[in-house]
Amino acid sequence: MSERTLVLVKPDGVSRGVVGEVISRIERKGLKLVALELRTLARETAEAHYEEHASKPFFGELVEFITGGPLVALVAEGPRAIEAFRSLAGATDPVSATPGTIRGDFALEIGANIVHGSDSTYSAEREIKLFFPELA
Ligand code: TYD
Ligand code: MG
Repeated sequence: MSERTLVLVKPDGVSRGVVGEVISRIERKGLKLVALELRTLARETAEAHYEEHASKPFFGELVEFITGGPLVALVAEGPRAIEAFRSLAGATDPVSATPGTIRGDFALEIGANIVHGSDSTYSAEREIKLFFPELA
């Protein structure tokens, strides 16, 4: 059984020049790319994407950060793709993230942790619809 996950290479990943590195890790893992686009998010899209965090103290900064420059949105597909990519990404706090993971290798600050990956089948479906409605 194959599933799909939404991955973002956030603006810090684009400005750091690690887009190729992230995509390469996704491909080497065996996940297939089914959509990919460079874009700058509108505030409304960012707020919708992170709606579960709307009441959190970091929400304002998170929206500023994610809309602050171009990002790469992609959909990857494969067996247990959601968990597979979360595992490649590493822990949310990059200082705790295991070296060898994307966050563990490329980031130091929780507010600039390079990538997003959907965390459940429900989130994946919602996020893919938001970024790539044509796939639904
Ligand atoms: P979250 O969904 O908890 O993490 P993940 O990206 O691993 O699913 O949080 C979303 C993003 O919000 C996270 O990638 C970075 C940012 N964030 C902060 O800036 N401060 C925080 O304390 C937390 C928990 C998250
Ligand atoms: Mg999350």
